[in-house]
Amino acid sequence: MAYRMATVYLHVTKRSPMTGGRFFCTIHTANSPGKSTGGEEWYDTMTTFKLVATAAMGLEKPVADEVRALGYEPNVENGKIYFEGDETAIARTNLWLRVADRVKIVAGEFKAYTFDDLFEGVKSIPWEDYLPADAEFPVSGKSVKSQLGSVRDCQAITKKAIVERLNGAYGRRGILPETGALFKIEVSMLKDVATLTIDTSGAGLHKRGYRVGQGDAPLKETLAAALVQLTRWSPDRPFHDPFCGSGTLAIEAAMIGQNLAPGYNREFVSEQWPWMSASAWEDVRAHADSVADYDVELDITGTDIDHRMIKIAEDNAAEAGFADLIRFKQMQAADFTSNKENGVMASNPPYGERIGEVEEVEQVIRGLGQVMKQYPTWSVYMLSSMENFEELYGRQATKKRKLFNGFIRTDYYQFWGQKKRD
Ligand SMILES: C[S@@+](CC[C@H](N)C(=O)[O-])C[C@H]1O[C@@H](n2cnc3c(N)ncnc32)[C@H](O)[C@@H]1O
Repeated sequence: MAYRMATVYLHVTKRSPMTGGRFFCTIHTANSPGKSTGGEEWYDTMTTFKLVATAAMGLEKPVADEVRALGYEPNVENGKIYFEGDETAIARTNLWLRVADRVKIVAGEFKAYTFDDLFEGVKSIPWEDYLPADAEFPVSGKSVKSQLGSVRDCQAITKKAIVERLNGAYGRRGILPETGALFKIEVSMLKDVATLTIDTSGAGLHKRGYRVGQGDAPLKETLAAALVQLTRWSPDRPFHDPFCGSGTLAIEAAMIGQNLAPGYNREFVSEQWPWMSASAWEDVRAHADSVADYDVELDITGTDIDHRMIKIAEDNAAEAGFADLIRFKQMQAADFTSNKENGVMASNPPYGERIGEVEEVEQVIRGLGQVMKQYPTWSVYMLSSMENFEELYGRQATKKRKLFNGFIRTDYYQFWGQKKRD
C-alpha cells in the first residue's frame, strides 16, 4: 500500500516529524480531482530513519566497516553502530551485514530520571508512524547505571504510554487488538538516557538458515564471518580450518568468496510491516542475485578429528549450497599437509575447558605449531581462551585481538605468513 504511481493530490492530515515524510492523507486521484478515493491511506515518500546495527563486544569495527561498505556513514558506540537510511537501507543491511546481530530503528532517545519522564517521553514519540492500529508490540527492556533500575516497571510504563499514544492517534479506547504484524520494541536505559528501538530483523542475523546440525561448541555465524574477514583472505588463496566442527568458518568463507548475501535465504520481521514496500526487499534480493559470483573457484577445506562432526559439516555445507565446493575430511589437525602457498588457516580449536582436557589440548596446539613451521607462507589465525597459546604454538603472535566467544574471553592469535612472490 506504500507506493502509488498515480498522480495524487494530497490532503495532508498528519505529517511525520521524521525527515523524508510519511503522510497520513486522504487521496484524490488525478482523474478525479477533489473526489476522495474513499478514505485515509498511508502515502509514502522515502523516509530517513535513524538506524542501529548491534554487534557483539569487540566486533564494532568489522560491523562499522560493513556498514560503510554498503554506503552508509557509521557512528560507533559501545556495541552499537548508528547510521541513517531509508527502507532500502533496512532491507540492504539486514540482507548483507555478516557480523552484526540485528538492525533496529531508533524511534526516540531522551533523558528519563523518573517514571513520569519515561511515560511522557515515550508518549511523545509518533508511534503511529511505525505501528498500524493492529500491531503486535511486545516491549522488552534493560537498564544499566540508571535511576530507573526496575526493568519490569520500565517495560510496563513504555507499553502503557504507547497504548495511550496509539489510541489517541487512531481514535480508539482501551486495549488494542495486537493481531497484526510484529513490532518488537525495546526500552533501553543507559546512564538515565532512554532509547526506544524497533527491531527490523526478527531472528538474529546469525540465523542464515543453513545450520541443520551442530556440535558442542559451534561458533556463532556472525563471529565466524568476522574471523574470516579479519584474516583478509581473498578467494584466490586456499582457506583451511583444521578444527572445523560443524563447518561454520568454511561455510562463511565460501559465502564471502562467492559474494553471497548472508540473509538471502531467510525472512525478516520487517518484511511483514504494512508500510515497508515489498519492492524494497525484491530490489535488494534481485541485486544480491546479480552480484553473486557462483563461478569463482574456491579452495576451501575443513578437517576435524571427529567423523560425526564431518558429517554435520557436510550437511550444513550442502544446505548452504556448497556440497561440491567445500571439502571436509576426518583428520588430526597435526596431520595437515598442503602443496599450496600463501594459504590462510583459521580456526577455533578446543579450549580445554573441561577437567582433564587441558593437557590433551596443549599437546594438540604444540603439534599444530610444529607442523605449521613447514608452511612459512601460510598465515594462521586461532581463536583461543588459552593464555599460554603462543608459548604452546611456539611462536609469538604478529598480532592479537581481544574478542568474546559468547561469554568466553578469547584472543584471536594472528601468525602472519611470509608473502611468497613468484
Ligand atoms: C570448538 S570446536 C570447533 C567448532 C566449529 N568452529 C564450529 O563452528 O562448529 C573444536 C573442534 O575441534 C575438534 N578437535 C579436537 N581435537 C582435535 C584434533 N587433535 N585434531 C582435529 N580436530 C580436533 C573437535 O572435534 C571439535 O569439533
